[in-house]
Amino acid sequence: MKRFIASVSVGFALLSANSAPAADGNAKRGGEFYRACVACHSLEPGVHLTGPSLAGLWDRPAGRIDSFVRYSPGLKSADFSWDADTVNAWLADPNAMVPGTYMVFRGIERDRDRADLIAFLRIAMAQGGAKTVVEQKLVPPDYVRGQQPEPLSGALEHAQVTAIRHCADSYFIATADGRETPYWEMNVRLKVDSRGTGPAPRKPVITGAGMMGDRVSVIFSSIDELERFVAEKC
Ligand code: HEC
Repeated sequence: MKRFIASVSVGFALLSANSAPAADGNAKRGGEFYRACVACHSLEPGVHLTGPSLAGLWDRPAGRIDSFVRYSPGLKSADFSWDADTVNAWLADPNAMVPGTYMVFRGIERDRDRADLIAFLRIAMAQGGAKTVVEQKLVPPDYVRGQQPEPLSGALEHAQVTAIRHCADSYFIATADGRETPYWEMNVRLKVDSRGTGPAPRKPVITGAGMMGDRVSVIFSSIDELERFVAEKC
């Protein structure tokens, strides 16, 4: 990573010339704006949600976290680093800065608001930033986690799936409490959660509207397991 640091923001004068970031943003107020980011970003290193972890990105090249495999072509081939100017242009209008970006965010219009958020991000996106922002009480700890799904290991019996058969237009889902419940096939989402905190191997979990509701997700720890558990059988 180090070698990228030298190749800082080439050509960004153009994009950010219209609104220079204020150096005196209020990081506490910026922490409040950061709420707009937590649905898609975590500040914990290596924890990716819809968007990549923002840990340690300050002064680092854009679009280069190896463990995040969902960059848009534009961000993946970007040739700039994250600093006050580039973050300012990004937050003003991500799609204007990187056309076709996968970050669906319409931008923050007011210069003042962006400056405050940048003051926060300068701390939050620095090395060890997740710890610092909580210690300095800039944001509550759940902002740092971001909206990570709850851990799934240790599910109760009624949520632990033992078999799934598909028949006609339905899934019949058996659980460790001995029941088999039918669902209309369009109401069942089959998902894979490969995070370490996903379901335990061979123990897929059913969640969602719960056993009373008609819409559910079944979450597997891998594609292999999904294939093994779901069979066509009447
Ligand atoms: C709806 C989900 C979503 C929201 C909300 C969102 N982001 Fe993103 N963010 C993404 C995605 C997806 C990417 C990857 C974009 C791409 O590859 O084009 C991204 C990329 C980024 C990057 C570049 C990461 C890198 O590795 O270079 C930064 C910085 C960033 N977001 C900051 C923010 C901030 C700050 C906010 C809140 C103001 C925010 N994002 C809100 C989804 C989101």
